[in-house]
Amino acid sequence: MMTIKDVAKKAGVSVATVSRVINESGYVNIDTRKKVEAAIKEMNYTPNEVARSLYKRKSKLIGLLLPDITNPFFPQLARGIEDRMQEHGYRIIFGNSDENEEKELDYIQTFIQNNVIGMISSTNFPEKDIYSNLKIPVVFLDRTSNDSPSVYADGRKGGRIAAQEIIARGSSKITVMQGPAHIKPAQDRFQGAIEVLDEMGITYHVIQTSSFSHTEAEQWAVELFDKYIDTDGVIASNDIVATAVIHEAHRLGKRVPQDLQIIGFDDIPLSSLLSPSLSTIRQPAHDMGREAAGLLIKLIEQDKVEDKIIQLPVSFVERETTRSIE
Ligand code: RIB
Repeated sequence: MMTIKDVAKKAGVSVATVSRVINESGYVNIDTRKKVEAAIKEMNYTPNEVARSLYKRKSKLIGLLLPDITNPFFPQLARGIEDRMQEHGYRIIFGNSDENEEKELDYIQTFIQNNVIGMISSTNFPEKDIYSNLKIPVVFLDRTSNDSPSVYADGRKGGRIAAQEIIARGSSKITVMQGPAHIKPAQDRFQGAIEVLDEMGITYHVIQTSSFSHTEAEQWAVELFDKYIDTDGVIASNDIVATAVIHEAHRLGKRVPQDLQIIGFDDIPLSSLLSPSLSTIRQPAHDMGREAAGLLIKLIEQDKVEDKIIQLPVSFVERETTRSIE
């Protein structure tokens, strides 16, 4: 790979001169500039972003930490972030935290070593010192903090809507699948759902789950029907778990939605392609990412920020795992 030294040698100038041309900083006479630009083009040299940032002491790098991009919800967040950041000339370096505090700390240190100027993190540990001690702005996304810049969707409202819709469509023997206790958005939607069920005097069952992973979703679905075979309505903790419930219901010979209605949470792209397609609560993930990026850019560029805590609305997406209202 061509380096800045190769370009300097080709153009017959110093590395410092090439740096000034690349970073558009400091005086370079027109003839020298043309020689350097010709050498860069001829050698197909791509400036190293970290080198650029070290020279300018002002990078355009943003660190992005997400729990697990094998869950289709998170790539949608990342896409919204990247689209907005690209529009403003910023670049992203990324890491999966796997909800592991040590791995998260390691990535944050890596980001700092790479001279990032801001961070976006979906974390279960927003109160940890590693974040409060950072010298760069941080925006929490989806999994957030009540007193730091954050962007999230209205999970409690989403849980309320799921319960209202499944009841309105005729379910009365309802099981609510509670998401992992350590994940705040999962608890918000769970509380919203059981609030409505309690308000309407409807008894319900709860299946506790400890992850959102594909590998474990099947076991939660099996446990649900082992314990509550006569369930006629399931409010799932997310779309992956809802998909496992559909799969297990079919294996047991249950008809969806005739015998059993199911509502998911997230509205990941695959949900519309399932058979039957999944009714769910849509989190505007791409918009959440864009909003988080926009908020971080304002903090980096020290623009006036009206709201540092941004909550986006959710919506019910009616598909084939719920019956239409007569
Ligand atoms: O599906 C993954 C879940 O974890 C989503 O519901 C999202 O809220 C994230 O926190």
